Amino acid sequence: MSDHYAVVGYPIAHSKSPLIHRLFAEQTGQDITYEAILIDSDEEPFAAAIHQLRQMGYKGLNVTLPYKLDAFELAQTHTERAQIAQAVNTLIFHDDGTIEGDNTDGAGLVMDIRDLAGFPIAGQRILIIGAGGAVQGVLKSLLDEQPASIRIANRTAARAVALAKRFQQEAIPISGGDFSALSELPAFDLIINGTSASLQGKVPPIPPSVLHPHSLVYDMMYAPTPTPFMQWAQQHQPDCTVRDGLGMLVGQAAESFWRWRHIRPNVADVLHQVRRYITSSG
Ligand SMILES: NC(=O)c1ccc[n+]([C@@H]2O[C@H](COP(=O)([O-])OP(=O)(O)OC[C@H]3O[C@@H](n4cnc5c(N)ncnc54)[C@H](OP(=O)(O)O)[C@@H]3O)[C@@H](O)[C@H]2O)c1
Repeated sequence: MSDHYAVVGYPIAHSKSPLIHRLFAEQTGQDITYEAILIDSDEEPFAAAIHQLRQMGYKGLNVTLPYKLDAFELAQTHTERAQIAQAVNTLIFHDDGTIEGDNTDGAGLVMDIRDLAGFPIAGQRILIIGAGGAVQGVLKSLLDEQPASIRIANRTAARAVALAKRFQQEAIPISGGDFSALSELPAFDLIINGTSASLQGKVPPIPPSVLHPHSLVYDMMYAPTPTPFMQWAQQHQPDCTVRDGLGMLVGQAAESFWRWRHIRPNVADVLHQVRRYITSSG
């Protein structure tokens, strides 16, 4: 009999996770089902909905907006990376009845940048834009790669400063500030947009001086065509490399699949198929 998995969120119809996990299962010969389930907390509390799914025999869930913090609260044990992120995107229902929370977003981002794009993070000067849940979720994984430094820039500077302080460690300088302070700093090697500005069709007002010809400019958002942030980077520095967050999405899914099934799918192959699907369906 198949093992059941799902992604839960609100809204959820747009989710590409069922497609990605179906491709992983086909590729690795795993007998699983994976569906998208809408949880409307006005109708049923998040925790009650999750416990019901567990009782129905689900083995694990992915959790997306707006429930990553609720999933953190609900899990009885956490991986170190989920504990640090204070947010959970993967729930594992163990046979002894316990629910473990993990966060695979950082692993997905690093997998995409380092392994799929072939861009080494070690020794690089990183600029990360945004200080919300997504950025909080990936900082530990980026620091584990031993970059030269990390600068966090955010519209609300105080959030960037607080985040930098929380992740401060002796070996790697990490600092925070607003967008305007960036014009006083040298260009960065890796620039990651972790804001939701692209979802609104906007580009954070950062100075083009952050770009150099060999920068990798990464937008966590993905789309069938280059995002506004990727377009902005290419207008100001045509030689830089741009990349959207589809590989991060497939990478975090692969890490969840690994946690549930103990098998690592071929991420590059599935990313290629998902990209083709997204481009053809507009
Ligand atoms: N590819 C993937 O697998 C993946 C995974 C996770 C997230 N994401 C993406 O990451 C993005 C951020 O998600 P999140 O969960 O971190 O959201 P969030 O917690 O709501 O944080 C939003 C962030 O964006 C900033 N922001 C919003 N609108 C802005 C604007 N017009 N100009 C400048 N900054 C703006 C906010 O700044 P303030 O602090 O000033 O409000 C905050 O830093 C989303 O696009 C999401 O789709 C992608």
